Amino acid sequence: MIDNKSKILLGDSNELLKEIESNSVDLIFTSPPYADSRKNTYGGIHPDKYVEWFLPFSGQLFRVLKNDGTFVLNIKEKVVDGEKHTYVLDLIKELRKQGWLWTEEFIWHKKNSFPGKWPNRFRDSWERLLQFNKSKKFNMYQDEVMVPVGDWAKTRLKNLSETDKKRDNAKNGSGFGKNISNWVSRDMVYPNNVLHLATECNNKNHSAAFPDELPEWFIKLFTKEGDVVLDPFMGSGTTVIVAQKMLRVGIGIEIIDEYYRLAESQLTQNLFVAEPEIIYGKDRNKKTNKLHRK
Ligand SMILES: C[S@@+](CC[C@H](N)C(=O)[O-])C[C@H]1O[C@@H](n2cnc3c(N)ncnc32)[C@H](O)[C@@H]1O
Repeated sequence: MIDNKSKILLGDSNELLKEIESNSVDLIFTSPPYADSRKNTYGGIHPDKYVEWFLPFSGQLFRVLKNDGTFVLNIKEKVVDGEKHTYVLDLIKELRKQGWLWTEEFIWHKKNSFPGKWPNRFRDSWERLLQFNKSKKFNMYQDEVMVPVGDWAKTRLKNLSETDKKRDNAKNGSGFGKNISNWVSRDMVYPNNVLHLATECNNKNHSAAFPDELPEWFIKLFTKEGDVVLDPFMGSGTTVIVAQKMLRVGIGIEIIDEYYRLAESQLTQNLFVAEPEIIYGKDRNKKTNKLHRK
């Protein structure tokens, strides 16, 4: 089923995931329907039923992911009757029982969320990206997402104290420490786990499409060229389209025909724009980038 070409499938992931080979996927990057919140567009799941609904999918995802692969789940709590519902927290606990390790949590800070006024809370400007793995040793290409050191270095690294020059292990005894002087005269540093991205995206015809930069960042971090990236709730296909541009093999599954067609048309267009000029990732192997359609 998996060859070296991107592929999108129309239908229910619960069924179609079964067709994917075990231990064949390097990265799963997805945003499933949120509980109830978008009822009018593609069928919501009641928050009380969310965990039960999700576990069969994650069981299949566990099977198809390679042992050194990563699963990134974009999900957010919903407020029900004035209180945050706990289905995301409940889901994390159940996923751990299913065998997943909850390795990390990234925050997507939505730089351009709409202003508003609510009686008991402020505007919601972030979403979770939960990272799960099957094993503690997983592929992570940290150098691919390094960022410029920034202006803070000019002041912070200018006059280092004696403590700054030593490995600072003392505070929590974790064995992980920082030696700030290691970073003097470096131009690039590793980023933190908060991504500041606008919500704007090219796929305006889907109400919950990712900005391209979101899957792009995780694809860089967790995969290399030729690796397989799966989005079992692909919507307008952002993950697959970006993966394809980055010379990965994208696999997407979508249950609604209209969104599937949207993804299909964008993938087809990309065949023509992506071939002469590679937009994302490194142009190391000069591979051609063809789409295999259903
Ligand atoms: C939050 S949206 C994903 C949007 C996507 N990230 C994008 O960039 O366009 C979730 C998608 O999952 C699809 N979906 C819901 N249940 C599904 C299922 N059982 N199998 C496959 N797709 C499903 C919905 O139709 C919806 O398009």
